[in-house]
Amino acid sequence: MNHIILIGFMGAGKTTIGKRLAKAGNLRFVDTDQMIEEQTGRIISDIFAEDGEEYFRNLETDLLVQLKNAEERLVIAVGGGLPVREINRTYLKELGTVVYLNASVDVLVKRLRGDTGRPKLQGGDLRERIISLMNAREDLYRDAAAMTYTTDGKHLKEVVEELKAILFL
Ligand code: S3P
Repeated sequence: MNHIILIGFMGAGKTTIGKRLAKAGNLRFVDTDQMIEEQTGRIISDIFAEDGEEYFRNLETDLLVQLKNAEERLVIAVGGGLPVREINRTYLKELGTVVYLNASVDVLVKRLRGDTGRPKLQGGDLRERIISLMNAREDLYRDAAAMTYTTDGKHLKEVVEELKAILFL
């Protein structure tokens, strides 16, 4: 099944764009964070706090295996840290067309300021946290993705229309 998979940093718009793109292409939308929360009955920050990041990362890998059995074509938004594991990048590529949604650090800082639901961004200086995580991840995002799409300066409608055309939805 050739799913559409959106990857990228927290705040890059994966969920917002994914929902709209799915609607435009008449496909079902799923979000790995949301699926993990539904399946465990817990919110992500509690999973991190109680069981640690590694446990959460295992749930992400398990979920990718589950998604291999999906019976309909999906638009899938994945958590920002999911492509960091090598096995997950392999699974992502097997699942379909991986699109890296790229946004500048300035845009990410604006969108993520005041966020309390993302454990990787809590404490310290937000901009520094974003920059250091981004430095560690950017090459991995590019490695996982078939294409990079930069959203900076674009309206949601424009992004969705362009991606719809590029992806033949
Ligand atoms: C994470 C990103 C989050 C969520 C978790 C960890 C990360 O998803 O999976 O808080 O490590 O980048 P979003 O990218 O949807 O915010």
